Amino acid sequence: MPSAKPSSDKTTAYGEFEFIVVSNRLPVDRVSTTDSSTWRRSPGGLVTALAPVMSKADGAWVGWHGAPDESLDAFDHDNMRLVPVPLTEDEVEFYYEGFSNATLWPLYHDVIAPPEFHRHWYDSYRRVNERFAQATAAVAAEGATVWVQDYQMQLVPKMLRAARPDLKIGFFNHIPFPPLEIFAQLPWRRQVIEGLLGADLIGFQRPSDASNFLRCVRRFVGHTVRQQQVQVEVEEGGPTYTSRAEAFPISIDVDQIITLANREDIIERSKEIRRELGNPKHILLGVDRLDYTKGIGHRLKAYEELLADGHVKVEDAALIQVASPSRERVEQYRLLREEIEGAVGRINGTYDTIKNTAIRYLHHSYPVEEMVALYLAADVMLITALRDGMNLVAKEYVAARTGNSGALVLSEFAGAADTLRQAVLINPHDIDGLKAAIVTAVNMSPAEATRRMRIMRRQVLQNDVERWSKTFLTALQEGNDDNPQEAAHA
Ligand code: G6P
Repeated sequence: MPSAKPSSDKTTAYGEFEFIVVSNRLPVDRVSTTDSSTWRRSPGGLVTALAPVMSKADGAWVGWHGAPDESLDAFDHDNMRLVPVPLTEDEVEFYYEGFSNATLWPLYHDVIAPPEFHRHWYDSYRRVNERFAQATAAVAAEGATVWVQDYQMQLVPKMLRAARPDLKIGFFNHIPFPPLEIFAQLPWRRQVIEGLLGADLIGFQRPSDASNFLRCVRRFVGHTVRQQQVQVEVEEGGPTYTSRAEAFPISIDVDQIITLANREDIIERSKEIRRELGNPKHILLGVDRLDYTKGIGHRLKAYEELLADGHVKVEDAALIQVASPSRERVEQYRLLREEIEGAVGRINGTYDTIKNTAIRYLHHSYPVEEMVALYLAADVMLITALRDGMNLVAKEYVAARTGNSGALVLSEFAGAADTLRQAVLINPHDIDGLKAAIVTAVNMSPAEATRRMRIMRRQVLQNDVERWSKTFLTALQEGNDDNPQEAAHA
């Protein structure tokens, strides 16, 4: 990427942006009508948290716009420059569906599904990461801050540092980082570790993710590690810089959820949901991407047994399961859909009456307004992930419960369990334990539910996504004091 390379020659073509986010997807969705198309901000806390930093700091976002074989010019949206990176149809198959979602995703989630290792998938991942790094280098101002997001982009920090040593580079991994014994399977483990170490600061969800990573650094690349700091040599025997690995648990846009939870029409909608279900005594809710990491099958098994044992009666309780479509061309996701839909069909066939349905299964995505209405309608929220970086649904449910009622059943394998200690914590593999936790949650006294929810709400309200991004970016700036960026010497 010669044109973007800095040197002491001040005519070098730096870009104009001081703050750049890099992620696989741009934070917008295309809305098409018959003769035109526009862009709409996609739901999710990350873009909300970063929007103020973006508009203040001349921000740009580098990412894929979601369609294959299409090159688009950069454009402005919501006070930021969006820089679309094109992907071919093959790259969608090899880099995105393949290496990102059929190699790294299962590997990083405790190999719940078997990861596949294919050399041509890795080659595509490397090439696409290089393209993202180049696109970023081309728009970054001298000394700019770049924040690279998630497992699809792990080689970008090193590539970017090589091209632009003047930049401050942060990386945040939204998913777990696996234990060494599992990570060791990856044929490209050294490249991935070195790719990440290109960042000045590497953020993880849980302290255990950061320590897993540091163990892998010690074992596979042999740099000096002191506590959370790694001394990285740019070339053998050459100067070193420090890369740090730390936990920064992500959160949600709390204000947005609370504002919606207080809106009259949304409160009314939540009552309507209850009425439409026939006013059951208990509404239980699951909200997940249809992903094998979410433990939806374990949840259904427990619920089926509760119906069979008579601890839950179809006349009294309704379970709503929202399973939003995800990665539908990846084999393991297809298999999962068949399995879950088979189970729902079997359970409903056995326990439904003409009047009552055991499980309302909804294979849709809903706007956030409808999600908040569901949170308000649900007496019990079920989160049974087998492994989850954080699980923001848990935090959204808690934020939405403005009246401090409702019970949260939460897997100890979700990052959210580190802080939401007053949830009914479960091991989803222990079906008897899960059943007992559901019964506890359904029968929890209002006083006990309020006591727990108050503490959890305080936790979530004090730690929203804006605080998360500020904490990370402050740590990135401060950490750089002993890491003079190279352009400063030029
Ligand atoms: C997880 C990942 C994100 C990803 C999202 C949706 O939350 O951490 O990086 O964007 O899933 O998955 P998708 O493959 O549709 O982008």
